[in-house]
Amino acid sequence: MASNIRIAALISGGGTNLQAIIDACKNGRIDGEVVCVGSDNPRALGLERARANGIPTILVDYAGHMSRDGSIPPQDKWPDDLDVDDLIAKQSLWPVDLNRSRLVRSLVTRALAEARLLGVLRPYRPDLIVLAGFMRMLSPYFIDRIHLKGGKPCIMNIHPALLPAFPGIDGYGDTYRYGCKIGGCTVHFVDYGEDSGPIIGQKAYVIEPEDTIESIKAKGLRLEWELYPECIQLFAQDRLLPVKMTYTRPNGQILQRTVVKIVQT
Ligand code: GRF
Repeated sequence: MASNIRIAALISGGGTNLQAIIDACKNGRIDGEVVCVGSDNPRALGLERARANGIPTILVDYAGHMSRDGSIPPQDKWPDDLDVDDLIAKQSLWPVDLNRSRLVRSLVTRALAEARLLGVLRPYRPDLIVLAGFMRMLSPYFIDRIHLKGGKPCIMNIHPALLPAFPGIDGYGDTYRYGCKIGGCTVHFVDYGEDSGPIIGQKAYVIEPEDTIESIKAKGLRLEWELYPECIQLFAQDRLLPVKMTYTRPNGQILQRTVVKIVQT
């Protein structure tokens, strides 16, 4: 990619990663520009960081799309391009044995919020969407409309653990409670699963006997602020190549996995 990439960031909280990305764009460590910051949380401190840097902010009201009585929103309110069966087939956010009407309700309400999010993001023409502490899982409805556009993945997430260990909302806590001697953080492309997409980069720290959840979080965050800009810069330089690999495990089982190769310059 010759020119600076246009980055949209989605956040729900403090936005220290967002700050690291904004700073890296300003000081030339990322050939890019944060063109907008979106949030599901009007009180997210990260929105203040965006405003302080003159970056437009957008809010998406997820809760407003939930029907109060738990019913499925009427079909004439659904996005025109919503294919519920396709979503059900692809999604892995909810258990497959969840009763169909609950599944449809969850997916439709999410897709309604995501259709709105896509609409408000569109004018900013982002090349890359970075999730930086965004506490909403993206459904295949959103992911397909972003990833499949240019034929390559362009939604990234940062996770506070060495994936595939400890996906979910409390990576640092889970790492600590397990008794790990090393912890870390991971940047990956987003797929339909929870923190399961192809890994782009990782950094690790040592957990000492005197460490606490708070102290390992502090160690981890410092690494996150380095790792995320580095991975975004690889994207900006067009050096991230997802490759579909097929492996045979020692037990004969065939394993297929998309892995990210870093193209050397
Ligand atoms: C980080 O630990 C990140 O790994 C996780 O959410 C946290 C966000 O922190 N996904 P901040 O809002 O960037 O400070």
